[in-house]
This record gives sequence, structure tokens and C-alpha cells, in this order.
Amino acid sequence: MSVRKITANISGVGKALPEKRLTNADLEKMVDTSDAWISQRVGIKERRIAAPGEYTSHLAARAAAEALKMSGLTADQIDLILVGTSTPDTVYPSVACLVQKELGASHAGVLDISAACSGFVYGASLAWGMIKAGLMKHVLVIGAEVNSSIINWKDRDTCILFGDGAGAAIFSAHHSDTDGVLAMKLGGDGNYTDLLSLPNSGCRVFTDADGVQTGRFTTMQGNEVFKQAVRNMAECAVYVLDRAGLTSKEVDLLIPHQANTRIIDAVAKRLDLPSEKVFVNIANYGNTSAATIPIALCEAVEQGRLNTGDVLVIDAFGAGLTWGALVMRWV
Ligand code: UT7
Repeated sequence: MSVRKITANISGVGKALPEKRLTNADLEKMVDTSDAWISQRVGIKERRIAAPGEYTSHLAARAAAEALKMSGLTADQIDLILVGTSTPDTVYPSVACLVQKELGASHAGVLDISAACSGFVYGASLAWGMIKAGLMKHVLVIGAEVNSSIINWKDRDTCILFGDGAGAAIFSAHHSDTDGVLAMKLGGDGNYTDLLSLPNSGCRVFTDADGVQTGRFTTMQGNEVFKQAVRNMAECAVYVLDRAGLTSKEVDLLIPHQANTRIIDAVAKRLDLPSEKVFVNIANYGNTSAATIPIALCEAVEQGRLNTGDVLVIDAFGAGLTWGALVMRWV
């Protein structure tokens, strides 16, 4: 008698977006930019902005509740809550802890993950590991951000890029040798910490030439980040496909991190993937950091873009540098 291996499938997905839309036309009134530049160079038309008093934990809990509903599970069946975020309400308690309270997930361990825009893929990989090891049955993974709280609204290099939102997915134990999660890869490179960082967000104080503490705003060397993103996302996707015994020809849907349509196009080109096999929703939400992939995953499900047997690759890149990819056959 053959014993099928334990892997993970996705039993539920959800998303939560603030109501307020900030369009490119709105940004034209705030900084020296244009709808044409943002649309052509980045691919964003509008982004969502959290209301005063609407925090990362609120968006995370809403997305999680939706995922829980779709899965048919009860909150107390969740073994672990992982939240990828760079904008937690507070460093402690964690966002995961606040979500646990909101859901009533009384049996769940709780942990926030600091991997910037790669946070959801890091969480998904950890979830797979815990399930594959037979230690857990259901892991709730969330990517959630209120990026508007760490943006310098006078800096056109960064303020046009980011938005707020949350997405969630529940990874559940699944007995199979052929479908569910097939392979993953996580990567990082601490030699490039200066390319994308959030000064004054921890115990280190950053000052200007006069010794005055500077702001707590995202800073980025866009061009360099762009090149690193394309190379590492493409290589990582190829690596996980290879580990799964697949080629990019067999991919049905790629859900990449949504930072720039030109990055997404360049990655797709390296993988030789036609545009209809690549999920892109950056025009509506901008870069929601750790939330881009789970929001896109939720919309892919809502739009019927994933069918049983489809090969799905999720592929992330972010500050650190960090990156990661995961391949699964949709159940
Ligand atoms: O999520 C984490 C990972 N993040 C990313 O992957 C982001 C990666 N980087 C990028 O997406 C792009 O580098 C940006 C969208 C940030 C910038 O695009 P770019 O094509 O690299 O532009 P650039 O910085 O080379 O600037 C080109 C020109 C410059 O003008 P000059 O020197 O050619 O006259 C900039 O001053 O565009 C100008 N520019 C702008 N113009 C209008 C820069 N920002 C803006 C703006 N509006 N917002």
C-alpha cells in the first residue's frame, strides 16, 4: 500500500482594501508628477489609502475572516497565524496577535514576519514546512500593510508607488504526491540593505548633517532595486519549477509581486510566459508590499483564473534584499 505524502493546498483566500482611492490625478496636485509618467513607467492608475484609525491589523483581520469563511473552517481550527508586514500597528503586540483576538482563533500560535514585500511568500513557505512536517493542519498566512503611514508625501520618487491593503490565504494539510504545494525557495542578500530601507523604524536613530533625526519614510534607489528584482524573481521562479520537475512552459498562472509592470514584463519575458498567463492588478492598488500577492491570489480565484490541476507560481521580491517563490498545482 502506498502512503501519500502530506503537502499543503489553499483552502481559502480573502482580501481587504480601504475605501479611499488616491488617483494619479490626485497625486499631480501633490507633487511634480503626471498620470502619463506613472502609467507608462510603473503601470499604476490608483491606490487605496487607509482611513484615519484604520490600521494594518484591521485590514488583516478582514482579509482573514473572508479566507476563513471560504475555507469552511472555524477559527479554533487554525494552528498558526503568520503576518507578513512592514507596517505593524505596533512592533509588539504583533499584528498576528491582534488578528487572533479578532477572529477568536484561540488555538493558534502568532507571529509577524519581517521580510518586506516578500513577507507573504516567506509565510507561505513556513506554513508549507510546518504542514509537511506533520506538525500543523491549517496555517493562516496574511500580507497586510498601511504603507501610507511610512510614505513621504513630498517625495515623488516613492509616494506614487505604494498603497494600503491586505490579503490572506489558509494553507491546509493535503495528502497527495502530485498536487498542492510542490516546491519553494527563499533568498536574501544583506549586501544591498541600502537600496530600500525604512530609517528610524527600529532602535537605530538616523540623523541629517546637523544631527537632527530624519523622518520615518521609505527610501529607495529605484533603478538598482529594479535590476535586482528582475534577476532574482526570474531565477527564483526557474529554480522552484526545476525542483518541482516542471518548466515554465507548464505554468498556467504566474502571480508576481506587483511593484512595476515593467519588472513584471521583464520577468515574464525571461520565463517566456505570454501576458495572459501573468496576473497583474497593480493599476488598481499600486504596490501594497507584502499584500500584493495574496490580494492578487484572491482576485485570481474570484475571476476563475485558477482551475484544478493548474500550475501556479507566486514570486516575490523586496527590501533586505529578500525574495522567494513557491510553485503549486491547484487543487
Ligand atoms: O516592492 C519592492 C521593490 N520595489 C521595486 O521593485 C521598485 C523598483 N523600481 C522601480 O519600479 C523604478 O525604478 C521606479 C518606478 C521607482 C522609477 O522608475 P525609473 O524608470 O527607474 O525612473 P528613474 O528613477 O530612472 O527616473 C527617470 C526620470 C528622471 O528624470 P530625468 O533625470 O530623466 O530628467 C526622474 O527625475 O523620471 C523622473 N521621475 C519622475 N517624473 C515624474 C522620477 N519619479 C518621477 C515621478 N514623476 N514620480
